[in-house]
Amino acid sequence: MRNRKDFAARYNLADPRPYFTGLRDADYRLPAVACRFLLQSAAQIAQHRHTPRLRVLDFAGGYGVNGALLAHKTDLAEIYDRFALTESGYGPDLFQADRRHFAARRRPEALFEVHGLDIAEQALAYGVEMGFYQGAFAENLVSDAPSPALASHLKEVDVVMETGALGETLPPSFHAILSTSGPKRPWILLASRPDVDDGPLNQVFQRHGYTVELCTAAPFRYRRLASAQERTEIFRNTAALGRDPEAAFRDDYFWVDLLLARHQDTVHALPMTDLVGQGLRID
Ligand SMILES: C[S@@+](CC[C@H](N)C(=O)[O-])C[C@H]1O[C@@H](n2cnc3c(N)ncnc32)[C@H](O)[C@@H]1O
Repeated sequence: MRNRKDFAARYNLADPRPYFTGLRDADYRLPAVACRFLLQSAAQIAQHRHTPRLRVLDFAGGYGVNGALLAHKTDLAEIYDRFALTESGYGPDLFQADRRHFAARRRPEALFEVHGLDIAEQALAYGVEMGFYQGAFAENLVSDAPSPALASHLKEVDVVMETGALGETLPPSFHAILSTSGPKRPWILLASRPDVDDGPLNQVFQRHGYTVELCTAAPFRYRRLASAQERTEIFRNTAALGRDPEAAFRDDYFWVDLLLARHQDTVHALPMTDLVGQGLRID
């Protein structure tokens, strides 16, 4: 894999293994951090939001790695091992073996109900069939308004999360989500990429009365840089935003923060320090 375009060819296949093999090779770690935050604070968030189970919408969720982590006793290493491309073809036997593997690891306590939202229809279908998602919406909020089904779902959502979504899709999509979701005002969990201009997204949050806070005590490794070409592009984009590329890309990895955007009234009612103390510490 040389760059983002090469990798995008793996976003929407009936076989999830090329995608997960790419993630494993990149040592992609963000979903583990985002899900750790949710697993650690689920009970408090649920109590605060008066719900027995948190309804999570996984924006740009693809094959459902976040649903897998939230609903099963597993981790990224095991998921990557499971999906590493060892055999050619992904027929019904391998599919059923994967399904049994995850069914046996399902958490009994069902803390979350997770739905995926993505333009990649096949990837979402895989996530649903594998039990990673309880349902999914194949929609593009950059170009279209939410369907009636998604609009009604959004009114019940507690947390919208994104891991690895393309930066340019976030401002229009989150504006559509927050314009539709109504009084329940979902929390939004996201990561900041140093090579992406966060100005447009911050404007969306401001417009909806949302405040952005840090969940992590310090930046953590998001993934490895894929190639010298990607390194050059990303260094250039980061420097153009007035940021120091040497600080954001060290030891061959991107370093990012985990962020939480919430309506300002919520921020006062349940301070971030109650959720993560001085911030999550990630190795
Ligand atoms: C790098 S993948 C991230 C997938 C998953 N969240 C993860 O962490 O592995 C980026 C995802 O963004 C999706 N995507 C691209 N454009 C989108 C859009 N306009 N709306 C929603 N998802 C989109 C792709 O289909 C792909 O699944």
